[in-house]
Amino acid sequence: MSKPRIVVAIDRPDLGQALSLTAHLDPALCRLKVGMELFTAAGPAAVEALQRQGFDVFLDLKFHDIPNTVAGACRSAAALGVWMVNVHASGGPRMLGAAVEALAGGPSRPVLVGVTLLTSLDGTELAAVGMPGDPAERVLHLARCCANAGLDGVVCSPLEIVPLRAALGEQFTLVTPGIRAPGEALDDQQRTLAPAAALAAGATYLVIGRPITRALDPGAALRALAASVPSD
Ligand code: C5P
Repeated sequence: MSKPRIVVAIDRPDLGQALSLTAHLDPALCRLKVGMELFTAAGPAAVEALQRQGFDVFLDLKFHDIPNTVAGACRSAAALGVWMVNVHASGGPRMLGAAVEALAGGPSRPVLVGVTLLTSLDGTELAAVGMPGDPAERVLHLARCCANAGLDGVVCSPLEIVPLRAALGEQFTLVTPGIRAPGEALDDQQRTLAPAAALAAGATYLVIGRPITRALDPGAALRALAASVPSD
């Protein structure tokens, strides 16, 4: 069965608002990303309710803790039946390995991706926290750490797709936010690509929020975007 490459970011403050949005979305055309806002408000019940509507869920909680704790969190995510889960690459090789091991062998193993550098961190911010140097090199280094530890891929900005695809090969999963159709409002995104351009550059999955969630007709916005994004 073909699987959608569009992942709609359901950044909503409660489950009621999330469900009134997803009622307009077709699970054949998208998967959903549940992040800290909704999960902190509504917890596992939110994931389960969205799954009951037929959606695959990317649980975007960016786990970052000692290996034992992250392993436990990954097992809890797998028990929820989520499709994808993520951890911070800077947690270190032992933490990444613990996450991989925690998910191995389960009945339906979630896709495990790493967060390299938050795209909100530019060179100045990184230097301020004692990490000088070229952010792009740091992203590549952390993505290699993820690959070496056995993660399936990373979350990356549109600008990072080409170098990461070249360095890490065709099988590595690249999950890319910052997607905007040409001429569309950028919101707070600085670097964007259109859906077709992101796929052509080598993205595997496209995370799209406000262009769908703030549209007057979210279902129609999704259908329009999906027309330029073939399923995998
Ligand atoms: O509304 P928009 O399309 O900008 O939403 C993008 C989603 O991807 C949001 O949930 C945002 O938190 C997330 N994200 C991002 N940039 C990153 C990582 C995640 O925009 N580098």
